[in-house]
Amino acid sequence: MAWKDKRKVMHRYDVTAEIYDERYAEEQKRKYKKALENSDLSAISVLDAGCGSGLFLGQIKVKTKTLVGIDISHKALLKAKEQIRNIENSYIIQADIDNLPFKQNTFETVFGFTVLHNLPKPVKTLNELKRVAKADGKVVVTGLKKAFQLDKFLDILETSGFEVTGFVDDESLNCYVATLTAKHLHINYLTSVSV
Ligand SMILES: C[S@@+](CC[C@H](N)C(=O)[O-])C[C@H]1O[C@@H](n2cnc3c(N)ncnc32)[C@H](O)[C@@H]1O
Repeated sequence: MAWKDKRKVMHRYDVTAEIYDERYAEEQKRKYKKALENSDLSAISVLDAGCGSGLFLGQIKVKTKTLVGIDISHKALLKAKEQIRNIENSYIIQADIDNLPFKQNTFETVFGFTVLHNLPKPVKTLNELKRVAKADGKVVVTGLKKAFQLDKFLDILETSGFEVTGFVDDESLNCYVATLTAKHLHINYLTSVSV
């Protein structure tokens, strides 16, 4: 999928920005609840990648250090802007999730709700989320069940160099919720010994 196709996705979400919350808020909030069960976002830097209309940003009730939402759809971001209006140190940025405008090692927690199925190469996308997450940070993503079979989704997570530390496959959700940390390479140094 080239940039031309990403533009089509952008256009689709621009067109649906007005009705998105009405149609999907309830469903999305069930996912956020699961994702937040094991996450304390107090005083840390948080990225919501593919934040859309900012529904998730608006659900964060604790005081984070910084709260950033990025999305490719300008119209969706106009909605997100309303959601973060009263949140200190919060920002929204129009950007492509595969080319994030952040340095590596920036965020303690990175979320990506219902976004991966829109991307041509989910492994590439996950690698980009891993890049901007701190080495000991967390990445929490959902995968739509109708877009990813379970074994395929787990394979994508594994191929992206993640360790799955939490996984929810709940009947009440139309997606899996995966909590991930980067796999670290353990290098054993061999010392040469003279005999
Ligand atoms: C189904 S919506 C989910 C929005 C939000 N995460 C939520 O929980 O409601 C998918 C979002 O992904 C965004 N998206 C799709 N492709 C993207 C890309 N290449 N870069 C950034 N955002 C993208 C869309 O614009 C849309 O807002």
